[in-house]
Amino acid sequence: MPEPEGWASDVALPEARDEDPSPGVVEVTLTAAPHTMSIVEGVSTEVWAYNGSMPGPTIRAKVGDTLVVHFINQLPVESTIHWHGVRVPNAMDGTSMTQTPVPPGGSFDYTFPLPDAGTYWYHPHVSSMAQVSRGLYGALVVEGEGEPQLGHELVMVLSDVLLNDDGSINPPEEEPNLEAYFGREGNHLLVNGREAPEIRAVPGVPLRLRLINAATARYFQMRLGDDTFTRLGGDGGFIEHPLKEPAILLATGERADALVTPHGEPGETLDLGWTAYDRGYGTGLQEPRTLLRVALEGRADRPAPIVPSSLRALPRIDTMGAGEDLIQLTESFETGMAVLSINGHPFSETVPIEVMAGSPRILRVENTTKADHAFHLHGFFFQHISAPFVEDKDTINVPAQQTLSLALLPDDRPGGWMFHCHILDHAELGMMGMLMVMSP
Ligand code: C2O
Ligand code: CU
Repeated sequence: MPEPEGWASDVALPEARDEDPSPGVVEVTLTAAPHTMSIVEGVSTEVWAYNGSMPGPTIRAKVGDTLVVHFINQLPVESTIHWHGVRVPNAMDGTSMTQTPVPPGGSFDYTFPLPDAGTYWYHPHVSSMAQVSRGLYGALVVEGEGEPQLGHELVMVLSDVLLNDDGSINPPEEEPNLEAYFGREGNHLLVNGREAPEIRAVPGVPLRLRLINAATARYFQMRLGDDTFTRLGGDGGFIEHPLKEPAILLATGERADALVTPHGEPGETLDLGWTAYDRGYGTGLQEPRTLLRVALEGRADRPAPIVPSSLRALPRIDTMGAGEDLIQLTESFETGMAVLSINGHPFSETVPIEVMAGSPRILRVENTTKADHAFHLHGFFFQHISAPFVEDKDTINVPAQQTLSLALLPDDRPGGWMFHCHILDHAELGMMGMLMVMSP
């Protein structure tokens, strides 16, 4: 059952052009530069964008492909590109620890294979908070082999932006310490760079949403009326079995791959709505907002495809005899200024955690603070040990005062890999550490 002609034209993102016709290689150019667009009708906003698009173009590839990205920096500041969630070689991780940041006018080539299907994203990793706030982020979709067609796919890059009345972005570089401590949120919620855009859909025909939370601080909790979501996967591709959920919650940096079937009469418009989640500091008190309007038209002419009860065989990491590492998320106040840290050390004084490739570990992530943090590890998936089902993840919410046990089996890609809170203000305030993976 096709969707109406142009059903997602109000919201769909451009796709990056593959410059290499040979199979198995996707080669794209990403140029970061200032760009003027209209976020609020009637006023223009200068954002930072990749290829003149905010979010950047969606990069689409197949599992096993090699991705080649020519990054050209036309920003007034140095930058890099980090491939959030992808198991890249260390030198391709795009942080200031793994490469010299690309100066204004400079360029850098990233080349790496894509070993895992899933929904990933890319963003700078120098002054991340400021650069992501200004609009530098985009989706990277890696399609699995023989994946079933379960619904019409829509990539939704979720974010927010803090605009002044004249349409200019409130300079993230000047954020006061206390607001950074709270994790400053934008005043406009965006889906693919647009406020409350509309799609047209047929009632009874499922949509497959690839959701990416690219906001610097805002968590996204979403509902579509009383329709339930069927979650197929998250950060690292499919989960084992589809999971019914009334709402989807994404911490910053997290992703979800979910089916939802709009129900209603043609002519009705449904609201895919944002509802507040309390991650601390009064964030739970905000009013509900509209993310996406779903205008219904037509009627389904056949039943929806059956979702297989088993999506993927995903072995649980065997943690028998695994050693443990304690990662405490900590904070302190020095002369009235908040400093966030890992095990009491801000990133400038980080004490690396050493692990051996091929040996399972348990990372015990203990949140000692009174607010939630979004724990993200570069380069490797982990599995939350007490989750009711097996899932490969790279970003997970650690609720206030709670401890999560994460199983990790690092493969042989040695080097220093960052982990940090993906509330990017918090990473900037010091809540960032390093995992040192050594070859046996
Ligand atoms: Cu999404 Cu260290 O990053
Ligand atoms: Cu945090």
